[in-house]
Amino acid sequence: MKQKIEEILSQVIYPGFNKSIIDFNFLKDIEVKDNSDVTIFLDIPSSSNDIAKQLADEIKARLKSLNLNLKVSISQPKPPRQTSSNGKNVLPDIANFVMVSSGKGGVGKSTTTVNLAIALAKQGKRVGLLDADVYGPNIPRMMGIEGVEPVFLGKTIKPIIAHDVQVMSIGSLIARGASLIWKGAMVTQALEQMLEDIKWNKLDVLLFDMPPGTGDAQLALAQSLPVTAGVCVTTPQKVALDDTIRSLDMFKSIHIPIAGIVENMSGFICPESGKEYDIFGKGTTAPLVEHFQTQLLTQVPIEIAIREGGDAGMPIVALAPDSQSAKCYFEAASKLWKFLQKVNEDGGVDNSAIQPTIF
Ligand SMILES: Nc1ncnc2c1ncn2[C@@H]1O[C@H](COP(=O)(O)OP(=O)(O)O)[C@@H](O)[C@H]1O
Ligand SMILES: [Mg+2]
Repeated sequence: MKQKIEEILSQVIYPGFNKSIIDFNFLKDIEVKDNSDVTIFLDIPSSSNDIAKQLADEIKARLKSLNLNLKVSISQPKPPRQTSSNGKNVLPDIANFVMVSSGKGGVGKSTTTVNLAIALAKQGKRVGLLDADVYGPNIPRMMGIEGVEPVFLGKTIKPIIAHDVQVMSIGSLIARGASLIWKGAMVTQALEQMLEDIKWNKLDVLLFDMPPGTGDAQLALAQSLPVTAGVCVTTPQKVALDDTIRSLDMFKSIHIPIAGIVENMSGFICPESGKEYDIFGKGTTAPLVEHFQTQLLTQVPIEIAIREGGDAGMPIVALAPDSQSAKCYFEAASKLWKFLQKVNEDGGVDNSAIQPTIF
């Protein structure tokens, strides 16, 4: 009986994806009593009631012919708390916001963000990715959507779907190669405009690839949205770590819970000799992890395929999901997701403390 039910359930597609609830591993248990009392236990990443109802209805319809006394029990994450009246959330339909930051450019912030986004999507989350790095909007190339013109619906813009992720980039919105000199106020304005104009579908998580450093954009974002978590990307050498401390301090000062550190370019294994070289060092983020009482999300080695994947619009998690480096990103994605759940279970985030004072 269980096997038969499982077979039928393997045809139930998770809404919005082209994989079944079995492929996603959302089926936790099937309980059968007296051959006809059946309870199906699912665990899904979406906190949306609509999706849970849609799934339960479809499962019941598909199993109807078996004439069971059927119950479908769906466990879901706690929905984020609505912000207090002093706080602000311009995108209330999105469950979690993750700010990916780094102290400096070139450390692999965008590479980390695209791979985390695709890893989360492969784990069955509805993921959005907003490239807010006005100084170096590389997400279109990395996600393979360079040159794709965004679709405008009146005043709003539809995100572009790539690797099952909804993507929008400041790079897709300004003319190619246009060299703009961004002043602080323009960065803030561009970000606020994007938050207003992009028409995201319901998302479990929206990731932000931020400009490097600790500037106006980070503050503007945190004031506009209750940012659920910050992820800090760094390389292991001392000069990168100094900037990383500033980045982590910034998260603290704008009240963003720190999900953890991604130590990127952490060691290099020579493909010919198999010998490991710690080009930038390795394990050097441990004292920061301890000082900021956070966690190491993963250590990603230097690998040629990571760079090639980024250049070709096929990030390694999409290109070679079974590779060692892809596993690092899956590990980081799982830890990040767990952290988001914990933040929401502990009462969620509120950005009222950092609202601008208006006189
Ligand atoms: N672990 C890695 N191994 C090999 N190349 C990497 C790795 N991480 C990043 N890169 C490459 O380094 C360059 C800088 O990375 P990028 O993600 O653009 O940095 P940032 O967004 O911080 O400026 C890119 O060409 C990228 O493909
Ligand atoms: Mg970048």
